Amino acid sequence: MIPMTIQHVTVVGAGVMGRGIAYVSALSGFNTTLVDVSEKQLNDALGSAKKTAQKGIELGKVTESDYENLLQNLQLSQDLAITVQRTDLVIEAVPEKREIKQNVLETACKHAPKHTVLASNTSTISPTELGSFTERPSQVAVMHFFNPVHKMRLVEIVRGLETSDHTVETIRKTAEAMNKETVEVNEFPGFVTSRISALVGNEAFHMLQEGVASAEDIDKAIKLGLNYPMGPLELGDLVGLDARLNNLKYLHETLGEKYRPAPLLEQYVKAGRLGRKTGKGVYDYTAKGELVKK
Ligand SMILES: NC(=O)c1ccc[n+]([C@@H]2O[C@H](COP(=O)([O-])OP(=O)(O)OC[C@H]3O[C@@H](n4cnc5c(N)ncnc54)[C@H](O)[C@@H]3O)[C@@H](O)[C@H]2O)c1
Repeated sequence: MIPMTIQHVTVVGAGVMGRGIAYVSALSGFNTTLVDVSEKQLNDALGSAKKTAQKGIELGKVTESDYENLLQNLQLSQDLAITVQRTDLVIEAVPEKREIKQNVLETACKHAPKHTVLASNTSTISPTELGSFTERPSQVAVMHFFNPVHKMRLVEIVRGLETSDHTVETIRKTAEAMNKETVEVNEFPGFVTSRISALVGNEAFHMLQEGVASAEDIDKAIKLGLNYPMGPLELGDLVGLDARLNNLKYLHETLGEKYRPAPLLEQYVKAGRLGRKTGKGVYDYTAKGELVKK
């Protein structure tokens, strides 16, 4: 199976994940266009790409010439239909809502060349269902990155019922070119990682609600006692509590009672406490996204 060579990548959604995927894609040499409906999100994404690259230079992980290439390779657009006309791979990272993803995939399918692969960074939604939104289900699969994208090594590849081997190999080769390791997962709600992470994160919220320990001590216990690199509550703030809640709602609907979202999590999201991106979640953050120590 000879995978397709990707030259141009379109990343849709310039939020937490889309900006990270676009950064890694452009830094890895792919001609990359980041598309969002919001101009502010696009400008913030460019700012954060520059900041991440500059930090990389300070750490000796990114060279000055990588930085120049990144800026040259990364374009911004608010017009998906025009952007996909010259793209080989679309990676959608719009919010975890079926109707938004459907709309993006339908538009991408309608305007992209016949060979273009349509990938989704969904954390939970079935690739078979995503494929059914398009007229090319054999070219649709999940390409699931992790947050923060430039640091996390894994990409989960999930194939739908109709996904071809050619599509899977093209995604695998592209992920490897972005310096990622891949695993192939059979279609099941939440794949491997989101399913476990949602359950652990939800349990931490139940414990916080029940007064088992403070947020700081729950996170500290899990990090130092179970050797997790991050506590589940600080991870929730990083991921976005709205994203976490959306995942749990989907898993609750598809896999049953054990995934019912903790009431405290629902309450935080209702209050707009979404985590780092809004300056307040379980913890408080400065405008630069740094933790405010108590
Ligand atoms: N946050 C995480 O840690 C994480 C990890 C892995 C996967 N995911 C998945 O990645 C996807 C994106 O999550 P996120 O946390 O980056 O979301 P986010 O809310 O931070 O960003 C979503 C972006 O999509 C944009 N958008 C909305 N509708 C659009 C449209 N029609 N066209 C173009 N842009 C549009 C929004 O303006 C926003 O910038 C979701 O499917 C989520 O489940 C998230």
